[in-house]
Amino acid sequence: MEPILKIEDLSVSYGAIKALQNVNITVNKGGVVAILGSNGAGKSTLLKTISGLVPLEQGHIIFNGQDISTTSVERITDLGISHTPEGRQIFADLSVYENLKIGAFTVKETQITPDKVYDEVKKRPRIKQLLDQLGDEGETITLTKEETIANNFARVYGLFPVLLERKKQIASTLSGGEMQMLAIGRALMGSPDLLIMDEPSLGLAPMIVQNIFKIIKELNDSGITVLIVEQNALQTLKIADYAYVLKVGKVVNEGKAKDLLNDQSLIDAYLGK
Ligand SMILES: Nc1ncnc2c1ncn2[C@@H]1O[C@H](COP(=O)(O)OP(=O)(O)O)[C@@H](O)[C@H]1O
Ligand SMILES: [Mg+2]
Repeated sequence: MEPILKIEDLSVSYGAIKALQNVNITVNKGGVVAILGSNGAGKSTLLKTISGLVPLEQGHIIFNGQDISTTSVERITDLGISHTPEGRQIFADLSVYENLKIGAFTVKETQITPDKVYDEVKKRPRIKQLLDQLGDEGETITLTKEETIANNFARVYGLFPVLLERKKQIASTLSGGEMQMLAIGRALMGSPDLLIMDEPSLGLAPMIVQNIFKIIKELNDSGITVLIVEQNALQTLKIADYAYVLKVGKVVNEGKAKDLLNDQSLIDAYLGK
């Protein structure tokens, strides 16, 4: 399988603090890769470095074959990486709709296969005509920027009906689980190929956590590659294909998720409950 993301010999420091040291990580296209580790292991730093928020000291980050080690945040989003930050960081004073709209700020026209076009957009006369003219299977149509945004709204509202019901509601009045859905929805508005998620289950009630993991699995099934950082090791390994364990900035273990799940000594030593 082809890697969508390759992290090579990555080191990151905050002044004298070495947050990541010689980290190597591969994320294959279509997979779910987990980064596990306790507080302070460097998980958030890793994701911030991938999305260009924190500069790297050494090494390379390759996305779809392109070196993005020194690329700007905006350009990285534009290339197809969306980040759901730790603590969600939604705009508290804005409505659900406005928050989602912001997530689409880098969206441009897109080439898309008909199965990825949602009914609301399919109904539009221009799209209907384009779809009628399509010949062979696998052919794509081009959605304008505005149509792409409408299609992404349809996707997000389909995935999270509660966000549609509450689209005019001010974000600060949502529950914790709804805020996480909004954070994920906002990331999806950017049409990502790779979704990087920082502790999506943090601070949520167990039942809501189950639901969030189910949604992540569904997103992955719909074609988005996922790189997820979590302290909730057991739940995460159940939806992941492959995992890396970080400890004070270094990869101390890696393997297929199902092998790590069966390694009780590893779970006890690094991952806790
Ligand atoms: N902005 C920052 N300035 C200085 N040190 C930081 C900063 N952010 C994180 N660190 C330090 O880097 C290390 C890794 O932090 P972080 O990536 O947040 O870990 P995790 O997400 O695994 O809890 C910790 O020692 C943390 O204190
Ligand atoms: Mg963190």
